[in-house]
Amino acid sequence: MSETEALQKRFEAALMPNYGLPPVALARGEGCRVWDADGKEYLDLFAGIAVSALGHAHPAVVDAVTAQVSKIAHTSNHYLHEPEVALAERLLSLLNTDGRVFFANSGAEANEAAIKLVRRRQGAGRPVVVAANGGFHGRTMGSLAITGKASIREPFGPFGLTSHFVPYGDEAALQAAVTAECAAVFLEPCLGEGGVVPAPEGYLRAAREACDAAGAMLVVDEVQSGIGRTGAWFAYQREGVVPDVLTLAKGLGGGLPIGACVGFGEYGGIFAKGDHGSTFGANPVSCAAALAVLDTIENQDLLANAGTVGKRLAGGMADTSHPLLKGVRGSGLWLAAVLTAESAPRVEAAARQAGFLVNAVQPDAVRLAPPLVLTAAEADEFLAAFPGIMDAAAAAAGHGTA
Ligand SMILES: Cc1ncc(COP(=O)(O)O)c(C=O)c1O
Repeated sequence: MSETEALQKRFEAALMPNYGLPPVALARGEGCRVWDADGKEYLDLFAGIAVSALGHAHPAVVDAVTAQVSKIAHTSNHYLHEPEVALAERLLSLLNTDGRVFFANSGAEANEAAIKLVRRRQGAGRPVVVAANGGFHGRTMGSLAITGKASIREPFGPFGLTSHFVPYGDEAALQAAVTAECAAVFLEPCLGEGGVVPAPEGYLRAAREACDAAGAMLVVDEVQSGIGRTGAWFAYQREGVVPDVLTLAKGLGGGLPIGACVGFGEYGGIFAKGDHGSTFGANPVSCAAALAVLDTIENQDLLANAGTVGKRLAGGMADTSHPLLKGVRGSGLWLAAVLTAESAPRVEAAARQAGFLVNAVQPDAVRLAPPLVLTAAEADEFLAAFPGIMDAAAAAAGHGTA
């Protein structure tokens, strides 16, 4: 029995079955490479669901975390500390707002904070939250209530708020849904779990206008799209729209758990003392990691890298003529290879076999969300293997390779 198989057996016996059985047991990583428990090497084009922005074991994160953990690892919210203040200041400066930040530990928690902020501001007289079909905001009861995927949401209802779902990208449907009953609109600037589907140009602007007209709040969920993933600090900035609330997580901590709910301007001042809290939120080690991530993205010009290497990766895949490939969507280092058949799990498996970690985000879409430090040479490595991966996936599906 291999090390991986032995670990899988123990995993199945000790962990709840909600994730199924993961096919790989990762043991270590360096840069964009990871190694499994049996020593097999992979190029990591998934970054742990778009999280490891600087790749694995980046010296800036290792140094920041090591220094912080040896000073003080935890304070609780009864005491403040410099890294949380510095990180909040840094985010507000990147977002160009005089608002305020609440730190959580995950994306779902950042959205829970946003939902409570909305309820606090709007009251029970506006019970409706509008969100998008195909949108994903997390698995906790509040964030799940506004997640637009019925199969994962419906088994857990009823929820404490009324969600109205609209087709993503349809301005007219959004405008019709944002009535005087609507407290807020929650939107991703580009669907992540929905399959890396960018909003059509003007959609966020239309959402802003609809919210302003109805007195609703606009909450933009950049848990996946934020912190450089699209080649900009934040994806919403493309449209020159300013949200009322922004949520962040994933890439912010570069692998350490942290989430943030940012209230812009006056929306930063909604929570009164005692309204919300978290024991681990604003953990000093996670804050130190996040500061290192933001510094490194800036110092090493990783927004530009995400733009140029992302273009190369997208262009190279799109130029691959293969009967299983319909097209490529997304921007920066956040892409989906869209397939002509529901073969994404087969592409993921064939890529893994060839030494690449990618993700079957939808039955017909394969997501790439590599570290922002991915080099052109690493992108080319994948592009060279891509036709063979597609052939292997097509053969496994019995489609032939044409
Ligand atoms: C857009 C978006 N929001 C929220 C979440 C939930 O984040 P977490 O899994 O950290 O709770 C995710 C996770 O994939 C996400 O993509």
